[in-house]
Amino acid sequence: MRIVSIGGGPAGLYFSLLMKKSDPAHDITVVERNRPDDTFGFGVVFSDATLEHAAEADRKSHDEITSHFAHWDDIDIHYRGQVLTSAGHGFAGMSRQLLLDILQRRCAELGVRLEFQREVGDLGEYADADLILGADGVNSVVRSRYAEHFRPEIDWRPNKFVWLGTTCPYPAFTFLFKESAHGLWRVHAYRYDASMSTFILETTEATWRRAGLDRADEDQTLAFCERLFAEELGGHRLLKNRSLWRSFPTVRNGSWRHGNVVLVGDAAHTAHFSIGSGTKLAIEDAIALARALQAHGEVEKALAAYEEDRRPEVERLQRAAQVSLEWFEQAERYHGRLEPPQFAMSLLTRSLRVTHQNLRARDPGFVATVDRWFASRAEQQSRVTIRRTPPPPPMFTPFRLREMVLGNRVVVSPMCQYSAQDGTPGDWHLVNLGSRAVGGAALVVAEMTDVSREGRITPGCTGMYKAEHVAAWKGIVEFVHRASPARIALQLGHAGRKGSTRVLWEGMDEPLPEGNWPLISASALPYHPYSQVPRAMDREDMERVRDQFVGAARMAEQAGFDMLELHMAHGYLLASFISPLTNVRTDGYGGSAANRARYPLEIFDAVRAVWPSDRPMSAKISATDWARGGLDFDEAVDFVRKLREHGCDIVAVSTGQTVPDQRPQYGRLYQTPFSDRIRCEAEIPTMTVGGITSYDDVNSILAAGRADLCVLARGHLYDPYWTRHAAYEQGWDLPWPDQYVSVKGFTPRED
Ligand SMILES: Cc1cc2nc3c(=O)[nH]c(=O)nc-3n(C[C@H](O)[C@H](O)[C@H](O)COP(=O)(O)OP(=O)(O)OC[C@H]3O[C@@H](n4cnc5c(N)ncnc54)[C@H](O)[C@@H]3O)c2cc1C
Ligand SMILES: Cc1cc2nc3c(=O)[nH]c(=O)nc-3n(C[C@H](O)[C@H](O)[C@H](O)COP(=O)(O)O)c2cc1C
Repeated sequence: MRIVSIGGGPAGLYFSLLMKKSDPAHDITVVERNRPDDTFGFGVVFSDATLEHAAEADRKSHDEITSHFAHWDDIDIHYRGQVLTSAGHGFAGMSRQLLLDILQRRCAELGVRLEFQREVGDLGEYADADLILGADGVNSVVRSRYAEHFRPEIDWRPNKFVWLGTTCPYPAFTFLFKESAHGLWRVHAYRYDASMSTFILETTEATWRRAGLDRADEDQTLAFCERLFAEELGGHRLLKNRSLWRSFPTVRNGSWRHGNVVLVGDAAHTAHFSIGSGTKLAIEDAIALARALQAHGEVEKALAAYEEDRRPEVERLQRAAQVSLEWFEQAERYHGRLEPPQFAMSLLTRSLRVTHQNLRARDPGFVATVDRWFASRAEQQSRVTIRRTPPPPPMFTPFRLREMVLGNRVVVSPMCQYSAQDGTPGDWHLVNLGSRAVGGAALVVAEMTDVSREGRITPGCTGMYKAEHVAAWKGIVEFVHRASPARIALQLGHAGRKGSTRVLWEGMDEPLPEGNWPLISASALPYHPYSQVPRAMDREDMERVRDQFVGAARMAEQAGFDMLELHMAHGYLLASFISPLTNVRTDGYGGSAANRARYPLEIFDAVRAVWPSDRPMSAKISATDWARGGLDFDEAVDFVRKLREHGCDIVAVSTGQTVPDQRPQYGRLYQTPFSDRIRCEAEIPTMTVGGITSYDDVNSILAAGRADLCVLARGHLYDPYWTRHAAYEQGWDLPWPDQYVSVKGFTPRED
């Protein structure tokens, strides 16, 4: 087979040597524009997993590569005068030049032809090759030549970075955060041999311009950085090597192959340097492609098998890299706001791959420090003394909202049960809410309960609009208080344009076949094209509904609820004012974000005025509509700021369900980034909900400051005793009700 690799970086060289090794009859040429000893950058990072694959693929180069490794276990985070160390990460670095030397030598030894100082412009001269490898890096000419087939997408990230070296041999993977008069600077530094480290400096474009670096040459950049980091460099110098300021491009391609041409490494995909995986991906691509060619005789079949095999892994890594790069882009949000242990947790768990539990397995001391710090802040915040050493995991620390103190951080999300009779909750509600309170959650939020009969979503929804409702709810509240330490909140709402629909199991958001009632909303826009058209609310409607909220709040107090939540999410009445997709009013309640916020805030104020001042109030919001033209996230943050100013104690951060053609990105903890941002920027406690299933995620979210309370909906449908089970797994003793004390000493067996 005649193979040409355009580009002699790690991907091209490694693939070539593997192919030549598998069959010396292959005629393989690597064409590289640089000289053999020319390389940009300094060191590269590997993780243990990459090396296992490389050891199987070619033991000789593997052994030589690993013999040059600088190993380190620790991550050091320099933040506001402290260094926080998390151990057990197991990485290795080496000089990129040395890596290329080894691969070039191994290629030459096996008989691969290496042509240096030859820049390929036209692929025509390789027309007779059986396989053309586009291994020409991030600015690939091969990719551009066949752009209509590869369908590249290049996402230029906003931050600026420069790749430098230093003679300072950092003992750990080191993150430096430093503020200057110009702004915040982040450094990613790691040692790659006994006496050298890579030193990547990153900042926002605004800070970079303020510092005048947009006009700086390499020497001026170096001098600036040496001055700024004089202390952290400890007298060592910085080194340049074509060290130009750049923006990072995340490269994705619709396809990685076209006929006999295939993309590998950075030409096919990039992953941000903050997860140090570019060279790993390049080498793993080379291994997978060589294997596919060995397994399938035919080139096109082999290229298809290669892409099918590699794409899921690459996309998984690119997703992690995306979260990671966004964390660094937005570091200003956390810097100075989070205390050092929380800042470190936020950084370490940024891409969700590392959790509280993984970190404990790697470095129990580090996690114990974080847990101690978290528990001491929880004691201050709740004014409750935690009598236990070692301290509890974050999820079992107390939390206070006004005079309501929660024993832990787990909340049962409000979930409609569609089982009420004209709004009156019955046995089902008692068992449903009662068993979840006994199950150990600190706060149980009763389902969306409507402030009027016409405000119901379905005929089965609960209400708080007549005297029977107070008595029925009171029975449930009293049971919860009698049977458990849990607190119970009521979620008050009005369905708006999503009302007069069928119960969940007969078709969510589907209009009733008969017995419909008239609907109101911010604007006269139906939910589905075939749904009932609501009436746009006039002033009289607004006052009536406000009074209904006030009436319901008074009844909730009589029923003994500990907290009230106003439902301002998921496209229901109050949410319909907030989103520009459902509010096209031309009066003072439509148009600008401030106008759209007015009515929900009026309701909030009216309810807050009658709700006892020692009891907390929350609001649930949809932080995005997941739809074009929907609520802007900055507007959502502003709205939450206003809620806080109006006396809201905590916000439940949800998303979507505003319009039926939404495109949500579901997944594990998919709404937690919204909570994270709101908590930092609106400076208000948050509850995060959505895709939380493990106690490890709960501990990670809390310790990293992404929320104050973790809310589970479906997790609690599945397991009412979720919190008790989480306590058992973590060796935490959650007292049982007297009736169940015999459980003590009983050991469950799940297998
Ligand atoms: C700041 C920064 C830090 C990084 N840190 C790390 C790290 O710590 N760990 C890590 O694993 N990765 C890191 N990377 C990524 C890493 O450099 C790349 O992901 C990796 O080198 C990809 O290998 P490749 O072979 O696909 O491409 P490259 O290494 O870019 O090789 C492509 C080669 O093709 C040649 N070429 C390009 N065009 C032509 C042409 N027209 N004709 C002939 N030759 C051509 C180039 O000269 C080059 O030698 C970092 C990247 C950056 C930008
Ligand atoms: C059956 C069911 C009913 C729900 N009813 C409500 C509700 O009344 N009020 C509300 O704010 N959210 C409601 N939700 C949304 C949940 O509270 C929660 O925000 C969502 O399910 C995501 O959390 P999860 O991934 O833990 O399930 C409901 C969800 C389910 C599954």
